[in-house]
Amino acid sequence: MSNESLANLLKEERRFAPPADLAASANVTAEAYEQAKADRLGFWAAQARRLSWETEPTEVLDWSNPPFAKWFADGRLNVAYNCVDRHVENGLGDRVALHFEGEPGDTRTITYAELQREVSKAAHALTELGVQAGDRVAIYLPMIPEAVVAMLACARIGAPHSLVFGGFSADALATRINDADARVVITADGGYRRGKPSALKPAVDEALTRPGTENVRSVLVVRRTGQEGIGWTEGRDVWWHEFVERQPEEHTPQAFDAEHPLFILYTSGTTGKPKGILHTTGGYLTQVSYTHHAVFDLKPESDVFWCTADVGWVTGHSYIVYGPLSNGATEVLYEGTPDSPHQGRWWEIVQKYGVTILYTAPTAIRAAMKWGDDIPAKFDLSSLRVLGSVGEPINPEAWVWYRKHIGGDRTPVVDTWWQTETGGMMISPLPGVTETKPGSAQVPLPGIAATVVDDEAREVPDGSGGYLVLTEPWPSMLRTIWGDDQRYLDTYWSRFEGKYFAGDGAKKDDDGDIWLLGRVDDVMLVSGHNISTTEVESALVSHPKVAEAAVVGATDPQTTQAICAFVILRGGADAEEEGLVEELRAHVGKQLGPIAKPKRILPVAELPKTRSGKIMRRLLRDVAEHRTLGDVTTLTDSSVMDLIQNQLPAAS
Ligand code: WT7
Repeated sequence: MSNESLANLLKEERRFAPPADLAASANVTAEAYEQAKADRLGFWAAQARRLSWETEPTEVLDWSNPPFAKWFADGRLNVAYNCVDRHVENGLGDRVALHFEGEPGDTRTITYAELQREVSKAAHALTELGVQAGDRVAIYLPMIPEAVVAMLACARIGAPHSLVFGGFSADALATRINDADARVVITADGGYRRGKPSALKPAVDEALTRPGTENVRSVLVVRRTGQEGIGWTEGRDVWWHEFVERQPEEHTPQAFDAEHPLFILYTSGTTGKPKGILHTTGGYLTQVSYTHHAVFDLKPESDVFWCTADVGWVTGHSYIVYGPLSNGATEVLYEGTPDSPHQGRWWEIVQKYGVTILYTAPTAIRAAMKWGDDIPAKFDLSSLRVLGSVGEPINPEAWVWYRKHIGGDRTPVVDTWWQTETGGMMISPLPGVTETKPGSAQVPLPGIAATVVDDEAREVPDGSGGYLVLTEPWPSMLRTIWGDDQRYLDTYWSRFEGKYFAGDGAKKDDDGDIWLLGRVDDVMLVSGHNISTTEVESALVSHPKVAEAAVVGATDPQTTQAICAFVILRGGADAEEEGLVEELRAHVGKQLGPIAKPKRILPVAELPKTRSGKIMRRLLRDVAEHRTLGDVTTLTDSSVMDLIQNQLPAAS
């Protein structure tokens, strides 16, 4: 990637200072950067003391065999004790841990004392099923409290869990059970999705007929929907409400080594078989606990936190389960989709529970923009005080919309960059410190070392683009790819010697702040210039008629690649409007320069997304280049592609 190519195409001048009251009482101030800079390992050792250790660590980092890190290696602790029991011991048993909101409108309120009883019973149940420390447990559940309980029960007995998102197929489940060699599967009869029960258990039954899953001895089944006709294998399947319910309510947690495996989580990646990302205990919990405290400024006695992710993704692991609960937070757990039964459901939930901190993804924000400003305006969102974003680059216009229409033009927005592999947040503003810039994740968190390098691994000067790398190990880093150390080395540590290659393009602006530009595979080459899909998308979204855009480079005889844009219009805009495409092209030209003007712009009704909400540009490239579509199995809704292809002739 040449430097001039990404030379700040996008100019974003808007700035937002931290609110004075938040800055005055912020959990973390500018001093943290100084402390971490002066003594990085000492800084992390201090953060580790947020946790309760059975044996306090004396070592911080062992990097004697890079890139295989050991953090706090001689310390011992129990994760479930840290997330549950210690709060009860500190007299907080009556504090609400979870406000559960089911999609059909059923609710449950679970205090820390109740959570302790539930986790204890589930831990006993797993032990009775023969699960021992080190055995893997697959969890395939909807977003219900039992998912949180099951994870904590595994952690309590030292059995690494492997969550498989409930929207995945029997095939995907079988591959993951096989790779992790799971011994028990925890599932439910089904969950609720868009007002209807949707079965899960049949996918487990099917997965367990596949070769490589023979070691699964037991299937523990939560009754959620009560639907008829789910299969039952005597001797293997047990009901949670029978088997877990009859267990003792007290359980003594046992401490494990800081480097004991906590979980495996599979990332799909774009090619090849899914990678089982391995996270361990002490360093992981330290970083997710610290970042949750610092980046959201969590005040556990008064805040109501809501992370809208699914527990099946890393965001759910780190910022629904381990981060918030280790901090004694009160949080919302919502089972369903944002538009069921109506497009104001999320805002209704914010109002109902008085949510103060909301953490969600750009895809959800853009959907809300598309549905219209009047929908959130109907609800009282005045409780909100910090908003977070994660998962994709957030277009500046979506950022500003989020702040204005959800945050009442009052709340800081923190754009947090991280990955399944990093375990916790890495680059983000701090709400009481950083003057924020819409669209930029800005600065590495205290104790984190990230920068942007060119092809030769040289750090680029401010105002230039290249590849995002992490230059020092961090506590919640992945330890390896499960069962495949070589692939761990090849994927992350061989592109730039001694540096972790994240796979994302990035640039530093004139202040040295970091802007994420999307996956490096998505960068386009147009007449000798590298142009980021993210920047062209952001330029399109900054036009008042556009809610969402996906941009790809299609092979072109004249320019190597030509920019093709697929856009979703905002409510009220007309796709047939004369001159619309020309107007959008001109707008991009004005924002970014003539080189970035899309050659083709196609208004569409939907965009292809992965189940975690990321746009699948690969498939759009297939469409733009008139190829047969590649693998569509990870799409949320494969009919979207038929829709787009049918619209295609209008483009040329
Ligand atoms: C990839 C990691 C982190 C939890 C959810 C996704 C993209 C993530 C941002 C952000 C720009 C972002 C990157 C990254 N990404 N957050 N704030 N700005 N891009 O976890 O599925 O492992 O995906 O998501 O491309 O590499 P994941």
